[in-house]
Amino acid sequence: MTALKLASASSNGPVVLGLSAKNGRLTIHHGEVPTKKAFPSSEEKRLLLSILKDLGATGTVDEVVKVPFSKPRLVIFTGLGVTSNQIDHELLRRASGAATRSLLAIQSANYLLPHTSVEELAAIAEGAALGGYVFSEFRKDSKKDALPALATAIIISPLSASGAAKSAIRRAGIIGRRTTLVRDLINTPPSHLTPKTFSERMKKEASALGLKVEILNETSLRQKGYGGISAVGQGSANPPRLLRVSYSPAKAQQRIAYVGKGITFDTGGLALKPADGMEAMKSDMSGAAAVIASVMAIAELKLPIAVDGWAALAENMVSSTATRPSDIISMYGGKTVEVINPDAEGRLVLGDALVRAQEFAALDKSGATLLGVVDVATLTGHQGVALGTRMSAAMTNNPEFQTLFLQACAESGENFWPMPFPEELRPTFDSPVADIANMGDRMGGMLVAGMFLREFIKPENPWLHLDIASPAYNSGTAFGYTPVGGTGVSLRALIRLAELAVSQG
Ligand code: BES
Ligand code: ZN
Ligand code: ZN
Repeated sequence: MTALKLASASSNGPVVLGLSAKNGRLTIHHGEVPTKKAFPSSEEKRLLLSILKDLGATGTVDEVVKVPFSKPRLVIFTGLGVTSNQIDHELLRRASGAATRSLLAIQSANYLLPHTSVEELAAIAEGAALGGYVFSEFRKDSKKDALPALATAIIISPLSASGAAKSAIRRAGIIGRRTTLVRDLINTPPSHLTPKTFSERMKKEASALGLKVEILNETSLRQKGYGGISAVGQGSANPPRLLRVSYSPAKAQQRIAYVGKGITFDTGGLALKPADGMEAMKSDMSGAAAVIASVMAIAELKLPIAVDGWAALAENMVSSTATRPSDIISMYGGKTVEVINPDAEGRLVLGDALVRAQEFAALDKSGATLLGVVDVATLTGHQGVALGTRMSAAMTNNPEFQTLFLQACAESGENFWPMPFPEELRPTFDSPVADIANMGDRMGGMLVAGMFLREFIKPENPWLHLDIASPAYNSGTAFGYTPVGGTGVSLRALIRLAELAVSQG
């Protein structure tokens, strides 16, 4: 990952500037230039603008234009958009990220992007940290084809001396490193990431931060009645796990539970998925990776709020021991479910984990009140059909909690859209033989899945269900600060939600 440094003036190396256009006129945007002699002077700007015009630069979002110069030797222009009058945080984050993605195998670059507040500075720093990601762990002969990310982004700011700016850079570094962890886990194939290795790797990282870790193996899961996780995992030679990572600062008055779907590979089970695109199902543990990484980040930020991260881990495979359509399973807490479709496995592992997360929070003796429960899951293909590849869904039993979450999204540059629970869908997953079935109407499938999870939520507990199925994994091309493969979506929103909970007491 690209490391971050804060400075008041540029040092050697390329310089990153912003570019926008309005009515066909290009404008160069840059941060406050500290001395009269510093780059770019108004003369240099005129020269650069004429070069940019000749190059056909448009200043659109995600456009990066590199101009060989003399001092500095290279200037990188990153698009800030053609129509916007106002440069918002997310635009800066994206522009900074796109520039970083284009700066491979370089030691350091100076980011002279426009900002007047610490929040804008933070967005620039986050974009640089998030854009500087390259996954080359499994390349051997072709290692040279994957150039390393920019080593250091030097963020140039007139605010560099302030404590707020320094902590914003530190926070951006934490977000960058934890997003890197999430992306690495998503990109790691199921040959190398199983429920066991996922939980062991997270245990190592979490223990290093002094966090409490509990791992239930397949035997304890069966014994304790985790029928959902057990049923999904029973077809695989790589048995399931339930991982809990807890951060419990002494002075916490609030507690929050984050629960993630951790299917290390989803073949669909006996409802086998088509071969085309099945490889993307290595990303079916994205929610689990995000929630556990968020607990680590919240601990590193030393926020005075207790957080439990739960990862419901299983591999959904096809074998003679796999769960069959029509099997009836007994979930944690006793509810019975008729498994109509073994490919609707996420809701089964999450049902168990959600019940346990609420039970655990209720047993907590610290006196902290439960702010809410948030589950994060690559739950349905319908999510992508409804909202596309860059917009995730947020469903809830508590509109106030959802409003707080959407504020966290707006402030962290995450795209989530509220989705309803139309009550007429509820009877569609009635079962003639069990309490409920794991599938209902195909139409509105994302909402049905959310309503299935609602069955496992105590009505008094504020709850959010986040379906990140499509945005979790970028099968297209890179954009802004988002690379190809694992994206890390939801992590920043989860961190911001905890911060907002603390600040709003
Ligand atoms: N893991 C998939 C959902 C998914 C699809 C994630 C595409 C990412 C990209 C999930 O387990 C699944 O297969 N859901 C089914 C549910 C259906 C059988 C009710 C789906 O969406 O088709
Ligand atoms: Zn599935
Ligand atoms: Zn799945």
